[in-house]
Amino acid sequence: MRPRAGAALAALILASVAQAADAPPAAYPAGAAAFQANCAVCHGPAGGGVPSLAPPLTSYPARYALSAEGRRQLAMTVLYGLFGDIAVEGKHYASRMPDFGQLDDAALAAVLNFVVFDLGHAPAGVTPLAAANIAAERAHPEDGATVREHRKSVAPSDP
Ligand code: HEC
Repeated sequence: MRPRAGAALAALILASVAQAADAPPAAYPAGAAAFQANCAVCHGPAGGGVPSLAPPLTSYPARYALSAEGRRQLAMTVLYGLFGDIAVEGKHYASRMPDFGQLDDAALAAVLNFVVFDLGHAPAGVTPLAAANIAAERAHPEDGATVREHRKSVAPSDP
């Protein structure tokens, strides 16, 4: 490697290490690792979303976690994906979220808890999702279009 390229690479690595050190430690580290491995490519490493590609996960999922139907919605979204036009914080996404049913119940609960608590800052009184919440939805297979229909009953009413 040429010396200049090596120096640039070292600076880049140092910068990303410094950034990671600035962030508070995740309350759900296993969920954080699963998020970076499976979700960050579309939703961004901090869940901020990517315009027209994938919505931010920093506000709505924490709200869903407050109600029984919203918690079902979170489990269904990661198990079965989500397909069709949705609005998040006033912006539309007409895309397809893939399903992650290949991950086990505990891994899906952990990744959702990372989204709800670490990215969405849900209040401490909110009950974390458990593997049993995922298992309950896994027992009733759906498709991504049905998950979108169910979302209408739990999402904030957006323009
Ligand atoms: C290939 C890109 C992609 C990947 C990877 C991905 N998503 Fe998504 N996600 C989307 C898209 C696109 C939507 C919106 C779907 C639509 O427009 O109907 C979405 C929607 C969601 C929603 C619903 C948000 C709402 O307001 O209802 C949640 C929750 C979510 N994703 C979580 C995750 C998690 C957790 C992972 C990792 C396990 C993940 N996503 C991986 C693309 C992706």
